[in-house]
Amino acid sequence: MFKVILLITMCFNQVAHNLLAAYTRQLSSNPLYFSSTVVFLSETFKLLVSLAMLIHACSWNCTTLSILLQKEIINKRIEFLKLLIPAALYALQNNLVYTSLTNLDPATFQVSTNLKILTTALFMRVILGHRLTMTRFTAIIILFLGIIIVQLQPQHMNSHHGNYLLGISSVLVICVCAGFAGVYFEKILKDTDVPFWVKNLEMYIWGILSAGIGLLGQDYNNITEKGFFFGYTPAVWVIIILSGAGGLYASLVMHHLDNILKHFVSSAAIIVTAIGSAAFFHTDLGVSFMFGSFLVCLSIFLYSLPSNSPPSSPLSIRKL
Ligand code: C5P
Repeated sequence: MFKVILLITMCFNQVAHNLLAAYTRQLSSNPLYFSSTVVFLSETFKLLVSLAMLIHACSWNCTTLSILLQKEIINKRIEFLKLLIPAALYALQNNLVYTSLTNLDPATFQVSTNLKILTTALFMRVILGHRLTMTRFTAIIILFLGIIIVQLQPQHMNSHHGNYLLGISSVLVICVCAGFAGVYFEKILKDTDVPFWVKNLEMYIWGILSAGIGLLGQDYNNITEKGFFFGYTPAVWVIIILSGAGGLYASLVMHHLDNILKHFVSSAAIIVTAIGSAAFFHTDLGVSFMFGSFLVCLSIFLYSLPSNSPPSSPLSIRKL
């Protein structure tokens, strides 16, 4: 039951985040907040939640907590250092999500980010040497076709929302980062005996550092001129919580569930986002969008079918 609730809430969390972020970036009349501050605060939120989980696990005993942190983080510095790579990639990806949502409608964003399945499969092959079955290869071809059909709609090419090319290029970089970071993080998770919430805490320490560097590089002048919280409304705070919760959900799915289920969540989120996008953004979904989305969902289903040869999950990691 816990797992079903986890998947359903993750789906709605993802949809709510994407719709609200797109609304605040495109439709709201309020001045535009600096998205790098949102990424930074959502990393901070995840760190605080992870710390709270650890404090709770230590029965609110500070001595037990400090012994645990000493044993698992300070004494295992190399393990800790390894998480810098996925954390930095995720920080880049999380920043680019806002670039994409500023320049694309949420439905297009949601469908095109499914390319993550392809990049994940690619990194599984390159890094871990896993071979694709025929069914999965076919699924990836269908996925490609589906995404091309959705993207080639004239109204998307001439979108009034912003710079379409910038939006789509950001999605491509997001998919490469997500594929690599996902494979890398789950490998670390499966290869270690360090408790899950300690691993997450380590991720978010690096996450805050990476997001902080991104924030200074991207918006230092703007922030010193206008302030860190420029353009903040209650909706922006909700986005920070939704984005943080989304990351925590993703980590829990990697930990507790088969990652195939994560793709089913994505396909459900596509449909709900498309409906939400049509309702709030008056996006004309059209026949080609419907057909393309159908192909994307079909490919996710095919890719998720159990295969006889390893791996059984797109992100199952074998020990090297
Ligand atoms: O694109 P994908 O579903 O792989 O995105 C994963 C998201 O989960 C990223 O936003 C990343 O920051 C977040 N994450 C997290 N904690 C982890 C692993 C991923 O917050 N341990």
